[in-house]
Amino acid sequence: MVTTKLGFSLLFLNLVLYIVVTVESIVSKRSNPIDFIKFSCKSTLYPVLCVHCLIGYANSIRQSEQQLAIAALNVSLSWTSTCASFVKKNTNIRGIKPREHRAMLDCIANIDSSADNLRQSARELHLTGNNAIGEKFDWHMSNVQTWVSAALTYQSTCLDGFAGPQMDGKLKDAIRGRVISVSQVTSNALALVNSFASRHQTTTLNKKP
Ligand SMILES: *[C@@H]1O[C@H](CO)[C@@H](O)[C@H](O)[C@H]1NC(C)=O
Repeated sequence: MVTTKLGFSLLFLNLVLYIVVTVESIVSKRSNPIDFIKFSCKSTLYPVLCVHCLIGYANSIRQSEQQLAIAALNVSLSWTSTCASFVKKNTNIRGIKPREHRAMLDCIANIDSSADNLRQSARELHLTGNNAIGEKFDWHMSNVQTWVSAALTYQSTCLDGFAGPQMDGKLKDAIRGRVISVSQVTSNALALVNSFASRHQTTTLNKKP
């Protein structure tokens, strides 16, 4: 009688343990994509901004460093395009001096080039998927790294145009503020691209016999 009771208790205990473990693994699987984003963003210069930008894409990113980097480039491209529209909208406002107008046109050209590079980078990063190994992976990856770095350079060239005294006031601050945010988001994207690149290299190295 006592043994049966004990048997039942053990059985019950096992069942409870089983349920607890199962529920726990489901919960941790669900929270993983967000933890993954938070963890990966620690390697960037602006981690808070990084998490803020990418958390909405957790479902498509899951645990993939490649998808994470692509999402970061997508976000950077979208911020860059919005910034370009803002500058374009303000090039012909009244009272603007010819020098200011020129700086804005230069900035627009730079921001547009930077958007082209980011668009191309996101497309190229797709090519580093499952089938790209070894040299092929390295080739696509180095293209992506070159183009994202170039995008950053174009953005800072735009900022240079507003560094001097030729432009004062609210509009200059508004443009500078936007371009600075855009380059922070792009810098984060580059960091995520670089960490995907370096980790993939270690994995392929480790796989070699
Ligand atoms: C990035 O943008 C492309 C093109 O708009 C889209 O097809 C893709 O799903 C996006 N990827 C992520 C991870 O957000």
